[in-house]
Amino acid sequence: MNLTMSAAPTHISVLLEETIEALDVQPGGRYIDGTIGPGGHAAAILEHSLPGGQLLGIDADPRAIKMARSRLEAYGDSVLLVNQNFANLKSICTKHGFFPVHGILFDLGLSSVQLEKNNRGFSFRHDALLDMRLSPRQEITADTIVNSSPENQLAKMIRAYGEERHSQQIARRIVRQRPITTSLQLAQTIEQAVGGRRGRIHPATRTFQALRIAVNQELEHLKLVLEQAVDLLGFGGRLVVISYHSLEDRIAKQFMHQQASGEEACLRLINKKVIIPSLAEVRYNPRSRSAKLRAAERISVPKENCGE
Ligand SMILES: C[S@@+](CC[C@H](N)C(=O)[O-])C[C@H]1O[C@@H](n2cnc3c(N)ncnc32)[C@H](O)[C@@H]1O
Repeated sequence: MNLTMSAAPTHISVLLEETIEALDVQPGGRYIDGTIGPGGHAAAILEHSLPGGQLLGIDADPRAIKMARSRLEAYGDSVLLVNQNFANLKSICTKHGFFPVHGILFDLGLSSVQLEKNNRGFSFRHDALLDMRLSPRQEITADTIVNSSPENQLAKMIRAYGEERHSQQIARRIVRQRPITTSLQLAQTIEQAVGGRRGRIHPATRTFQALRIAVNQELEHLKLVLEQAVDLLGFGGRLVVISYHSLEDRIAKQFMHQQASGEEACLRLINKKVIIPSLAEVRYNPRSRSAKLRAAERISVPKENCGE
């Protein structure tokens, strides 16, 4: 049996040591992992917060929660897992009385498990139906957007969320080829639209990113959760965001800079410059290459106009 072919996909946590340091994880601390995924960062947070640490782990994907549950089983009651969108962070924490906290982590995007499990249409390397939902409870799928949007709306979405120069040609070709029901069919359509492969990245990369962002309303949810997160931090609590594309990073950067400026500032930036993986990490885990970590510390005692 070929073990490499049959092995289940695994996820390697990105910027792991840097995350623990940025969160300043302390024994007995209370932490939120808003994107728990397979639980890699969470396990390290729990390990460093022994004895007495507590972790609330959230994920929109029920399959991720299942994986995290089995990985973190040894930590027993120290872990609370919630299968919800992090856009509901404040209500989740209120419901469970989980605040104020010492640190909150968002490691955005998808895990390798989600990307490589070839049945959700996230990747153009595997053939699958065009789904791309993080949660099966969401109504809109990538199929809905690809097959029902007017051409100008498709082009706008591909341009805005994929930062794709060829958005017009791609949208036109998609509309001409519809119905498009699988990821490979979509990837081929895009390749034809831009006249084959050029450059380092696959011509479908940006359009797939755009669709995923649109299906899951990723940017809107990130904006919503950052506001809520500040409010849940106690004095000295840390907020850490790891992003994988410029649109997410811009939101995290602008938010932290805004909250860290002026007389009413409630955050302090921990690093002047964004943290990126070392060459060694990128070599070991190529998926980490686009990662950017930003961190800030709450410097105000909770009050009305901070993060609310
Ligand atoms: C990069 S993975 C996290 C990996 C994890 N840090 C680890 O080291 O194992 C990102 C996770 O966030 C989840 N996610 C993305 N957006 C979300 C949202 N708005 N609400 C809840 N979970 C979300 C995804 O389902 C995925 O499991």
